[in-house]
Amino acid sequence: MIRLAVLVSSGGSNMQAIVNSTKNGILKGIAEVVLVISNNVNAYALQRAKRENIKSVCVQKKFFADLKDFNNNILQEMVNEKIDLICLAGYTMLVDDNIINSYRGKILNIHPALLPKFAGKGMYGHYVHEAVIKAKEKKSGATVHFVEKEYDTGEVILQKEVDVFDKDLPEDLAKRVLNLEHQIYPQAIKKVIENKFR
Ligand code: GRF
Repeated sequence: MIRLAVLVSSGGSNMQAIVNSTKNGILKGIAEVVLVISNNVNAYALQRAKRENIKSVCVQKKFFADLKDFNNNILQEMVNEKIDLICLAGYTMLVDDNIINSYRGKILNIHPALLPKFAGKGMYGHYVHEAVIKAKEKKSGATVHFVEKEYDTGEVILQKEVDVFDKDLPEDLAKRVLNLEHQIYPQAIKKVIENKFR
């Protein structure tokens, strides 16, 4: 069984989709979520983890001297739990070199657009969907990719599209994309496990 850690900062609906999939979906029997780490004490994701009886840890930046210390603490939590694969799911902090070097090729992230478009600093949450609509794109989508040092630059694992309609508000598009995210994240995890662990 592959041991997953999910790193979150807010709602955790992707985390929930991954958990559901390990219980009743395509990840059943091949992976389990054993650790949820949040940098935000108010993240609803922490309540979800509790409800699912999954160990959760809140690691707040303000209690550490610097980002390096903060990241080392997170790394230690994951090493202690013998984590095989890390899934960033709405996680807003930068994952530093130490974590990337220890888990090279084993850190995944989901981005609510068709990378390499609408990527990089400042392109998160509703900003992405606003930008897509402003650019009059006909398609948007979701992308699961490997995490590298720069934001949103690692190799794409899985990407799928949704339509963008003329009448769409950013929140309409966000809903459609989030729905797709919930489907493709477990699929991408399965793909990585099949390629790297078997
Ligand atoms: C998702 O849209 C994800 O792509 C982005 O942040 C959002 C997180 O949503 N990185 P949730 O916390 O999984 O509900």
